[in-house]
Amino acid sequence: MSAAVLAGPPAAQALLDQARARAAQLPRRPELHVIRLGDDPASLSYVSLKEKKALEVGLGSTVHALPETTSEAELLGLIERLNADPAVSGLLVQLPLPEGIDSGRVLDAVSPDKDVDGFHPVNVGRLWSGAPALPPCTPAGVVALLDHYGLPIAGQRAVIVGRSNIVGKPLAALLLARDATVTLAHSRTPDLSDLTRQAELLVVAVGQAHLITAEMVRPGATVIDVGVNRVGLSKSGKARLAGDVHPDAAEVAAALTPVPGGVGPMTVAQLIMNTVLAAERLQA
Ligand code: GUN
Repeated sequence: MSAAVLAGPPAAQALLDQARARAAQLPRRPELHVIRLGDDPASLSYVSLKEKKALEVGLGSTVHALPETTSEAELLGLIERLNADPAVSGLLVQLPLPEGIDSGRVLDAVSPDKDVDGFHPVNVGRLWSGAPALPPCTPAGVVALLDHYGLPIAGQRAVIVGRSNIVGKPLAALLLARDATVTLAHSRTPDLSDLTRQAELLVVAVGQAHLITAEMVRPGATVIDVGVNRVGLSKSGKARLAGDVHPDAAEVAAALTPVPGGVGPMTVAQLIMNTVLAAERLQA
């Protein structure tokens, strides 16, 4: 048996199409604002992808590119101004921030109603208490991917491996809200394979290449691989990427996301959807 490939791009496009349709219903165009400090090449490329996708679906996009030397006070001042500006629907501060700036303080300063990253403690609390939240983009993108491929969540025995604040923990809240029975495991869980072998839905977000081998997967499981690990260079000099799940798991699982080209594209698509969600609530 070889698992069905859960390709990210068509699922991401479907989410972007939904975002476009919902944005078109609003009285005013949703506006995404991104603050970026310095010129870290990875941050530059992430931010330009976010801008490209926003523009593609008819949202407005503004990037505030500030020098590396920007003070925390200046940054907080800009956030305060954008929080107060009714034309701004979604606001995110691209991480990492330069040394000397307290990222926690900066993220806490973003209005929870515009926090399209879903990182603000108020959104974390809303997510866990079942109130309307802006959910973090990668885990919400995982749920959207499952929905796109018609894979069940309710009633499933779900095991998440990875307890980060941006993937594992919020995904546990999202799957619980959809009536999965959730176990949140991590790299230090004893006898991890005993747990993973029970999972009808297995999501791995640890950041260790090939941590999950074929023997650790329940036959017929749905496996979502959130890991993106650099494992050397290809002949052409490009970074070679490996997931947290060994490709041999495709012989056991019923469905598996590829790396790259699985969960990755869902994150940006969900960011765009979150911008529309924020705009819908702010314009209601
Ligand atoms: N840097 C890398 N990933 C992210 C993300 O999802 N949000 C923000 N704000 N910065 C990032």
